[in-house]
Amino acid sequence: MTKDWWKESAIGIPDLITETPGPKSRIMHQNTAKYMKGLSSQVKLFPVCFDQGYGITLTDVDGNRYLDFSSGIYVTSLGHCHPKISEAVAHWAKKLMNAHDFTTPVKEKLMEKMAEVLPGRLNSIQLYSDGTSAVEAAIRAARAITNKHEFISAYRDFHGKSLAAVSCAQMYRSETYSYGPARAAGFYMVPRPDPYRPLWTKNDGTINTDAYIKYYEEFIKEGTVGNVAAFVLEPAQGWAGSIFPPDDFFPKLKKLCEKYNILICDDEILTGMGRTGEWLALNHWNVIPDIITLGKSFGNGFPVTAMVVSEENGGALEKISASSSYGGNPMACAAALASIEVIEEENIMQNVRNVGEYFMKRMIKMKEQHPIIGDVKGKGFLLGIELVKDRHTKESFEEAGKLVYQKAFSKGLAWVPAGHILRMSPPLIMDEKYASLGMDIIEDSIALVEKEFGY
Ligand SMILES: Cc1ncc(COP(=O)(O)O)c(C=O)c1O
Repeated sequence: MTKDWWKESAIGIPDLITETPGPKSRIMHQNTAKYMKGLSSQVKLFPVCFDQGYGITLTDVDGNRYLDFSSGIYVTSLGHCHPKISEAVAHWAKKLMNAHDFTTPVKEKLMEKMAEVLPGRLNSIQLYSDGTSAVEAAIRAARAITNKHEFISAYRDFHGKSLAAVSCAQMYRSETYSYGPARAAGFYMVPRPDPYRPLWTKNDGTINTDAYIKYYEEFIKEGTVGNVAAFVLEPAQGWAGSIFPPDDFFPKLKKLCEKYNILICDDEILTGMGRTGEWLALNHWNVIPDIITLGKSFGNGFPVTAMVVSEENGGALEKISASSSYGGNPMACAAALASIEVIEEENIMQNVRNVGEYFMKRMIKMKEQHPIIGDVKGKGFLLGIELVKDRHTKESFEEAGKLVYQKAFSKGLAWVPAGHILRMSPPLIMDEKYASLGMDIIEDSIALVEKEFGY
């Protein structure tokens, strides 16, 4: 199999043969929505019903073919139904679906492979079946390692929806409001540096990372009982809009954490496994975290996630059982192992770096042309375009974000829903031709929205 396995199926996309969403999609969505409640804005804003996915192509029930710019939701990063991964899952689906916690041949191989590719000595592993459970395990692990119980996270981070995970996360306000005070005791939030919207700046107007670190130190001393186990952070904020911190942030945070014996729990569920051109996004800053969580791309769509700590802390994991009903089942291990092998065999990381450069150049050009683009950001295939009403006031342009999302989708771009930051997470196999096609659709849609709003 060559790395071009997906190309033939992509010829001619986007290819729309009905209005979108099409008539069959609308009926199926209505039938489903009668029963299924709490559907995401992504679905409500564009109620399409997908029937098939292969490579970078998604086909709906009306026969319309879309260009995928979301990888599910940062999940099918190596393309839909990658033959090697699908075959690996099918093999174990026919042979042994579940063996609880016991070792299986494919689990043995996955453990060895993970230890080989993960940086530092991150090689003490537990497997789960969703990202939230991996984050919960990371919180248990941090407590077990440090015998401390407080946690610091950051505004607009997202880590999942269970009680501990949501205690480290910014939820949509309306959602949190509806189920009451969500944050558990001992969980605190602090601001983190957003270069486009800095809270503290230096004399030259650039973001002042030291001021954030100073604030954290003050907070540790004054705002906690001195029992902080870990900072739980996304290396770059995915849900918040592909927001990367300045390059000096994590190295400085690491120093602060060392001073106070606090762990760094690096939630790489969205950013890891090549999305930014490195196994972990934190690799960009040469910081080795104490705990990581992996999910989404880790099994390329199969529900498999991991929580990993460094070897010296591995002993503490004996205190927190790895047992779960589905975690590490043979199909899951096969999906994760095959995904890592594909990243290596198809030289995915290099593609992400090369095409990622194209994306960034293109977005910078778009910013020059379009007054509602306030900022463009990202690394590799984790990208954001921030829409503002006015470049001086930087007032967020939420209405424009929604409209651009809908317009581009109706032109055949399947992508991530937007607030005022358009988020792109194309499959990492994508070449420049399709990258450019997707960006053309987005740029056309921005131009239409600008016109509608009289810019
Ligand atoms: C950074 C991060 N952590 C955790 C989660 C939760 O993962 P899951 O939806 O698989 O429970 C998400 C999901 O979007 C995420 O982006």
